[in-house]
Amino acid sequence: MPAVLKCEYAVRGEIVTLAQALQEELKSKPGSHSFDEILYCNIGNPQSLGQQPITFFREVLALCDHPSILDKSETRSLFSADAIKRARKILDQIPGRATGAYSHSQGIKGLRDTIAAGIEARDGFPADPNDIFLTDGASPAVHLMMQLLIRSEKDGILCPIPQYPLYSASIALRGGTLATGWGLEVSELKKQWADAKSKGITPRALVVINPGNPTGQVLAEKNQKEIVDFCKKEGLVLLADEVYQETVYVPEKKFHSFKKVARSMGYGEKDISVVSTHSVSKGYYGECGKRGGYMEVTGFVPEIREQIYKLASVNLCSNISGQILSSLVMSPPKVGDESYESFSAEKDGILSSLARRAKTLEDAFNTLEGVTCNKTGAMYLFPRVRLPEKAIKAAEAAKTTPDNFYCRRLLNATGIVFVPGSGFRQAPGTWHFRCTILPQEYKIPTVVSRLTEFHKSFMEEFRE
Ligand SMILES: Cc1ncc(COP(=O)(O)O)c(C=O)c1O
Repeated sequence: MPAVLKCEYAVRGEIVTLAQALQEELKSKPGSHSFDEILYCNIGNPQSLGQQPITFFREVLALCDHPSILDKSETRSLFSADAIKRARKILDQIPGRATGAYSHSQGIKGLRDTIAAGIEARDGFPADPNDIFLTDGASPAVHLMMQLLIRSEKDGILCPIPQYPLYSASIALRGGTLATGWGLEVSELKKQWADAKSKGITPRALVVINPGNPTGQVLAEKNQKEIVDFCKKEGLVLLADEVYQETVYVPEKKFHSFKKVARSMGYGEKDISVVSTHSVSKGYYGECGKRGGYMEVTGFVPEIREQIYKLASVNLCSNISGQILSSLVMSPPKVGDESYESFSAEKDGILSSLARRAKTLEDAFNTLEGVTCNKTGAMYLFPRVRLPEKAIKAAEAAKTTPDNFYCRRLLNATGIVFVPGSGFRQAPGTWHFRCTILPQEYKIPTVVSRLTEFHKSFMEEFRE
């Protein structure tokens, strides 16, 4: 299938394969490299790097999956009272109390009620449980929407770059056209749109990841309003990827959902189609492997809604643990609940540590010769690196891109895994790499010192 051959997924690409091979070598031949461990800064998979799951969430999940322990006296000393209460409530919402059964294709109704109430509390605007589709993480929601939107290669999805490779991969798999341009300024979006039209492409939707991956940018509300107006005017579906809504590290920036922004502008169901995706994989919960998430689908006529439902029903339903977790992240313990204090301590501990890690890495990048790096939300930094001409030539000779060349050398010299910016696409002639802030906090100084030393010697080696 040409579409499969065309599809690329950089966050699990060549550099990661090399890292895995090096890890095997370190295991079978300790001391074979100048470093003793691989420092994975390449993927937003928090628990694989030591982030602990939130106790309350896991208590509820465990109780839902094994309800017979709910009535045992030991359970009251092992589990918090509010986790027991929540598990009972959730089980009452599941037909037959069976977490091993298929559910409604949009997800269990009671859980969707909870999620809708959570969205309403977050945004201050109504949310309808019938607009919620529970999914196995945000990725299947994106695939479903691409399947719905793309009719042929003449259909374009506007995807400002740098973008997360899920989008380019999903569009390639569906045989559509990825229409790109640099950044989210409306003047740029208009250029992207006009450029696509001039090539005979019909733009169908705009993807906005906010807070962003890979750059970590958090959009200003004014910019969001302009984006909403642009989508409304051009009849574009706004695909709002909001999986990083809980990870904003700078006090002057705040997350606003696109649906809230659209509603605050007075736009309702008839004015604009917004699909907001969320996930249990990120934030302070980091439950990537549980595969939970949802999309809130608004502003579609019933005929299209039926097709969305049909596509969801082809997959029968998303997994039930992921469904339960999605309801929990949208309705965590509240003041007065027994778990509230310990829950808040866990949550704040994770978020404040992430903020410190982001700051330390950002500062470190900004001290490197030729490197600039902006402040962050989400879980990533996307520094720009100005590489010497000689390094660019050496990359050409090695038949690779300069950013890949840099990342490969970095990995071989230090064990640090970054993703080359090419995987996310970057403005022509610029080179970047993406670094996650997820290694455990005590390892960050090692990342910084190894990176600093490597960068100095790399720049010396290729100095003109
Ligand atoms: C912007 C963005 N969207 C979606 C996803 C997919 O997440 P999941 O399918 O685990 O919910 C990711 C994962 O890193 C992401 O960064």
